[in-house]
Amino acid sequence: MPIWYGADYNPEQWPEDIWSEDVALMRSGSINLATVGVFSWARMEPRDGEYDFAWLDTVIDLLHAGGVRIDLATATASPPPWLTTAHPEVLPVTASGVRLSQGSRQHYCPSSPVYRAHAARLVGMLARRYGQHPALELWHVNNEYGSHLSRCYCDVSANAFRVWLRTKYSTIDALNLAWGTEFWSQQYGSLEEILPPRAAPTFTNPTQLLDFDRFSSDEFLACYQAEVVILRQTGGGVPVTTNFMGFFKPVDYWKWAREVDVVTDDSYPDPADPDSPVSAAMSRDLMRSLGGGAPWILMEQAPSAVNWRGRNAPKAPGQMRAWSYQALARGADGILFFQWRQSAAGAEQFHSGMVPHGGTDTRIWHEVEQLGAELAALSERVGEQAIVGARVGAGVAIVLDWDSWWALEQDAKPADLDYVQQIFAWYREFWDRGVAVEFVRASDELSMYGLVLVPSLFVATDEQLANLDGYARDGGTLLVTYQSAITDVNLRARMGGYLGVLQRTLGVWVEEFAPLVGRSDADKPPTIPVAGEVFGGKAVGTLWSEFVRVTNATVMAEFTADTLAGWPAVTQNAVGSGSAWYVATLPEPGALSALVGAVLADGGIEAEPAFGGERGVEVVRRGGLTFVINHCALAVAVELDGTDLLSGTPARDMQLVSQGVAIISDYTG
Ligand code: GLA
Repeated sequence: MPIWYGADYNPEQWPEDIWSEDVALMRSGSINLATVGVFSWARMEPRDGEYDFAWLDTVIDLLHAGGVRIDLATATASPPPWLTTAHPEVLPVTASGVRLSQGSRQHYCPSSPVYRAHAARLVGMLARRYGQHPALELWHVNNEYGSHLSRCYCDVSANAFRVWLRTKYSTIDALNLAWGTEFWSQQYGSLEEILPPRAAPTFTNPTQLLDFDRFSSDEFLACYQAEVVILRQTGGGVPVTTNFMGFFKPVDYWKWAREVDVVTDDSYPDPADPDSPVSAAMSRDLMRSLGGGAPWILMEQAPSAVNWRGRNAPKAPGQMRAWSYQALARGADGILFFQWRQSAAGAEQFHSGMVPHGGTDTRIWHEVEQLGAELAALSERVGEQAIVGARVGAGVAIVLDWDSWWALEQDAKPADLDYVQQIFAWYREFWDRGVAVEFVRASDELSMYGLVLVPSLFVATDEQLANLDGYARDGGTLLVTYQSAITDVNLRARMGGYLGVLQRTLGVWVEEFAPLVGRSDADKPPTIPVAGEVFGGKAVGTLWSEFVRVTNATVMAEFTADTLAGWPAVTQNAVGSGSAWYVATLPEPGALSALVGAVLADGGIEAEPAFGGERGVEVVRRGGLTFVINHCALAVAVELDGTDLLSGTPARDMQLVSQGVAIISDYTG
């Protein structure tokens, strides 16, 4: 298999005489995979039950003749106007009771039987017509489930929610107990009385909110599965995917990842945000992790600017290439874009395309051609130096949990903490050191990791906590941060100091929270002084502090001000043959770096060689190759032996310009 290189291709937006030109251009751009039909429902089925596939036949045959494989979309993400006109109940309703309109996209209630029936009929037609087509490489189900519209509060959804709750709880008494409805007189007499968490005077029941999050993720998943069943029956045995969106809160990708044949991701980091290389890397590591380490496909990225931010920065020269190689380094076997030809009309006319409004004598097109040619050459590598199919190992794991994400960010909580920002703060420290990271569930097998981080695992089961405990006892290095194991899966508080069985593992319990409070007009998050050898002396904590009671751990750092003075900020406990750290604040970057250095040493994990002391140089190993990507504004010197595959020159002392990439073969012969 080659490295996939391609794009969303929307020929229906263009007159037919451009289609052949498109395919010729694709050949010169080394395109080998095109995603077709993502938003073509109205074109495929112009009236209820009347289908027009002649144009799609032509498009697919043209691509096939040009050597371009097809990722065929099921087109169900944007119902046509005839459907929502005839069946307005398909349109979703917000928590405030507003029924959203057609005229945009993703305007469907995932629980709607009318929507699902019409979608299934279309998918059946596509599967029968194209399942055996020799150009078909992949089925692309719907598009970005949950994007734009992730929760529907209509009456149909209310009914579906009740069905979901009946399956989960069996009896109304069990539900009342789980939701803690004794509070504020919320006891339900029967399921019929239950509604989605619609707009209410103040805080809604937290467990109802969490169950509605779980339900909504499951409803979209059910839509996906309904299409997949059809594709598996009549879709020609072709693999099936749907495109994920990195750290996307509305749907639980751990559950979804089991249902796709290959993980695919859409990634739109902001070129104007200096943190983008790190956050993009984190998403790529998540994609690899969701697939259990298997290669994944970058299904969409922008060739340059998007159109949907307030101000849309273009990518710097070379940045599209650098970020593409980042995906490749972190396990992708395909690099695709949204979209092939920049639209002339419609809401995305100012979103960049591989073929821009300015045509092919443009920077964007030249960069597209260059990258295509490079990837085609790299595709040919085989054996130990192959890229396609090669794995990326990791010594560090970070626990990621959607229940905790949903619960931690509810309103009625001790403080407004951003779950992914907490994870990001830690992740950045590993990125800076070239230490590979994977994401895991708390229930996963963890013994292959030297260090497991558990940031704010707010919701946890006893089994998950026992697994984390066992990991540490069996020789692992475990690091748990504040706001972990605060509740069980029903959001019932864990009595006696939180943390459950981890109290013994960590040798601490939590007496009281003290989230840091800043002046509301301050730009910076509130801080608190801390001190300890593990920070290299005096340092600063941010966002959080709390009163931690030590039963059996060594205090590695303390808070040093106000009522917290003298209370532990960081502890470490020798447990079994391993080690368990508890961190009660988010140290500022310098202090966090020192702490990460200490726990990496504790976990026996070595960092990659540094590059001239420059932060912003990314180093990743995949298979037998080392990728070096310079995200800095200035050139850096490579300090590794071997040969750079891209330039064909020796790597050592090579000057890597800003946005430059080297792929260094470990084997110099
Ligand atoms: C998403 C969608 C695409 C397009 C791009 C624009 O990823 O899947 O259809 O709208 O965003 O950035």
